Amino acid sequence: MLRTHTCGQLRSSDIGQSVTICGWVHTNRDHGGLLFIDLRDYSGITQVVFNPEKNLELHNKAKELRSESVILISGKAENRPGGTLNKKIPTGDIEIVAESLVVLSTSLTPPFEIEDDVKVSEEIRLKFRYLDIRRPSMQRNLRLRHKLCKAIRDSLSSEGFIEVETPILTKSTPEGARDFLVPSRLNPGKFYALPQSPQLFKQMLMVAGLDRYFQIAKCFRDEDLRRDRQPEFTQLDVEMSFIDEEDIYIIMEKLIKEMFAAVPGFTLKTPFPRLKYADCMRRFGSDKPDMRFGMEFADLTGILADTEYKIFGNVIKGGGKIFAACAEGGAKLSAKDIELLIEFAKGNGAKGLSFFKVKSGGLSSPIDKFFKKETLDKITEVMKAKDGDLILAIADQEKAALPILGLVRDYLIKKLELKPKEKFSVLWIVDFPLFKYNAEEKRWEAEHHPFTSPKTEDIEFLESDPGRVRAKAYDVVINGTEIGSGSIRIHDSKLQERLFKVIGIDKKQAEDRFGFLLEAFKYGAPPHGGIALGIDRLLTIFTGCESIRDVIAFPKTQKGACLLSDAPSGVDEIQLKELNIKIR
Ligand code: AMO
Repeated sequence: MLRTHTCGQLRSSDIGQSVTICGWVHTNRDHGGLLFIDLRDYSGITQVVFNPEKNLELHNKAKELRSESVILISGKAENRPGGTLNKKIPTGDIEIVAESLVVLSTSLTPPFEIEDDVKVSEEIRLKFRYLDIRRPSMQRNLRLRHKLCKAIRDSLSSEGFIEVETPILTKSTPEGARDFLVPSRLNPGKFYALPQSPQLFKQMLMVAGLDRYFQIAKCFRDEDLRRDRQPEFTQLDVEMSFIDEEDIYIIMEKLIKEMFAAVPGFTLKTPFPRLKYADCMRRFGSDKPDMRFGMEFADLTGILADTEYKIFGNVIKGGGKIFAACAEGGAKLSAKDIELLIEFAKGNGAKGLSFFKVKSGGLSSPIDKFFKKETLDKITEVMKAKDGDLILAIADQEKAALPILGLVRDYLIKKLELKPKEKFSVLWIVDFPLFKYNAEEKRWEAEHHPFTSPKTEDIEFLESDPGRVRAKAYDVVINGTEIGSGSIRIHDSKLQERLFKVIGIDKKQAEDRFGFLLEAFKYGAPPHGGIALGIDRLLTIFTGCESIRDVIAFPKTQKGACLLSDAPSGVDEIQLKELNIKIR
């Protein structure tokens, strides 16, 4: 080793020792006589002092040091003189009195200072990612990522799981996003697809008798990017044989609890609450509600059954309902804010959004004249509304109203900066529908993926009433983000065929897309099921970062670009020729 200690290691107990440390020049301060260098590495900062009276040549050499140059310092660890202690850093009691200095490499002036409160755009940070990662918060995030992956490997290994790698150059998987394709030079005109998940391979590993599989797996999806999406992301992928949903819940709750133990100062309680999809939609208008906030919906249809307000009355007559939510402190929103909120609701498909401000125990609204006082009082009571709150109501068919009110709920949680009741809320969403209806294409499609098993008691409705069939599928939701998703799979070819038929995949298409899995199922498939957790999303929540990009060493931008390597980029004509590809 070039060094005896790291830059965050020395304490007053080390006083008097001769030490050697290496790192980056964080600051260089010339105090007229003494010169101070703060030397930084991953572990922290140590102050080094150069005294011209002791060694003028060394002092002059140190004077020339530029920020971010890499140096090696030998010297003695000494107490800092009284009054100069720095209680803000763990090494703040000591300093190294330099005796020698080696410049290991020099640095250009960096485009930004290496500190957490960075003042440049994210583009610059991503372009110079190696400098960005030098910042303490990025170091913490990547170290936490390692700790989390280690906790995963330890926990699952102790439960008899083994980690198996599955191919990256493969065939399209059934998650339903667009594939990234890779042309095959050896097979002109043919393409590999990068895996959207290891789904088909992990199921085959169950047919192969591996019993308990996991993988910290890279997945690739060419979809529109959002705050919590990357085109290339990492899943903890899990599959088990001879199990039902309860086994998945037990194993995953233990694992997630152990993952949370990696977050300082937080202990998670198990078992996690379970919410049925239908109840969840009715109560929060979302299949991933952030349960740290209340704002549970109420159905006001009964109270408003004989309302004179035409818009509500007509919706009720047409079989629709009126759902409402109460936002704490929302009455303070200005007319402009409310206008924007209504625009937001309309932009998401609402025909309208009614609101009532709670003032002096009563409700005031541009439409309050249409309601009897008793009706308004009843609404206040049902919504448990207090002075200063804002009640929002949407009248529409249930299926349309609930998700929009759910989005309004999310919007208001952010806008009003509501305080969460707890730091983390983890829950299972269960009993998902097996299918969703694609109104544009007028057909049913799989809600999760087509290998998801229907609930046994709903199988009889597969063909007659697909919308009624629930799936043996479950999601893990943390703080309003879908962190994981999985299901018990179909292992019976007959049932699989029936399901393909409902979603319009005929025998030939099934053969082309998933033939190798279906073939494997003919050779003795155990009942099996699994789940995948998004590691990047989990880390974003653990670290409290705004963006998923802050927990990934080399992420892509919203446009799918790597600003550091300049990918994607053009390729040579020769390469294209070899691949038999012509660019239009
Ligand atoms: P699913 O498609 O729901 O299920 O993905 C599982 C989890 O992966 C994370 N995730 C993402 N994270 C970042 N960027 C993305 N673009 C992205 N897409 C998904 C989410 C999500 O909950 N094969 C099935 C799992 C199974 O059935 O076992 C699957 O991939 O946290």
